[in-house]
Amino acid sequence: MSMTRGLAVVTGATGGIGSAICLCLHDEGYGIIAQFRANQDKAEKLALRIRSNGGYFDAVMCDLGSAEGVDAVLRVVQATLDRNPGYELHALINNAAKLLGPAFGAATVDQFDDYMAVNVRAPFFLSQGLAPLMSPGGSIVNISSASAHFSSPGDIVYAMSKAALESLTRNMAEAVAGAGLRVNSVVPGFTDNGHPAFQNVAAREYMSSFSVLGGVADPQVVAEAVRFLLSGSASRTTGTVLDVTGGSALGARQRPASSVRELLPDL
Ligand SMILES: NC(=O)c1ccc[n+]([C@@H]2O[C@H](COP(=O)([O-])OP(=O)(O)OC[C@H]3O[C@@H](n4cnc5c(N)ncnc54)[C@H](OP(=O)(O)O)[C@@H]3O)[C@@H](O)[C@H]2O)c1
Repeated sequence: MSMTRGLAVVTGATGGIGSAICLCLHDEGYGIIAQFRANQDKAEKLALRIRSNGGYFDAVMCDLGSAEGVDAVLRVVQATLDRNPGYELHALINNAAKLLGPAFGAATVDQFDDYMAVNVRAPFFLSQGLAPLMSPGGSIVNISSASAHFSSPGDIVYAMSKAALESLTRNMAEAVAGAGLRVNSVVPGFTDNGHPAFQNVAAREYMSSFSVLGGVADPQVVAEAVRFLLSGSASRTTGTVLDVTGGSALGARQRPASSVRELLPDL
């Protein structure tokens, strides 16, 4: 029986969804390498929680908008594997992102490049660098967004970046299948990540209006989807998306009737 333990790299680990993913995968027995940009306080709290529960936790603070930031993660992962021969790299969760915006009329070239660098280029090169270190059975999960599935002109660059991430998922799934690796996306809708907007009544109502189930999601919902995709139960699942948007992508929002027959009863 193999005595190796699985390591999972989670980017954006200090965010609402990233920290839920870290805790969920720690519960599952994974050692965690957590990437974050700036929130050292949150990273330290996460480290304390996981280490005091007997888990492995290492963190790397870097900006994934730069090639150096991506390299920093790759270096930490390689050093961790070198220092801990009992661990194997099993998972990469590309979760870090610049969220929402900018709008069609307002976007600048610099903003466009920055969104694409963090939300698309970093997942691409992290995956390119880490897939060769993974053993067969390993898995990459990209955290997309419902906004990739409908028009969002106010958040157009963000939405485009997530559509590109889903394309990366499909393309990479074939590229790494021969190495026994799987690649999938999880698609969240509005998910309470602790941002003050989720406490604002008007903002919450707006967010709730997207889902046919109403309300917004808890980050645990996204973490559980990631847990499933990494598990043996998903061993035949690759190149696809797991929607946890509460039906936000069904196109039902503000539709005045469920059929034209409802508007024209005599038809
Ligand atoms: N929350 C939602 O409603 C929602 C809906 C759909 C999809 N999603 C997706 O879910 C994922 C997680 O979102 P979240 O709601 O948990 O967001 P969040 O709470 O704002 O967390 C974002 C995380 O990404 C990191 N990050 C931001 N910019 C970075 C950069 N330039 N370089 C490196 N790291 C960076 C942040 O680090 P610091 O904390 O250190 O700054 C933080 O750990 C994202 O991919 C997002 O697009 C979220």
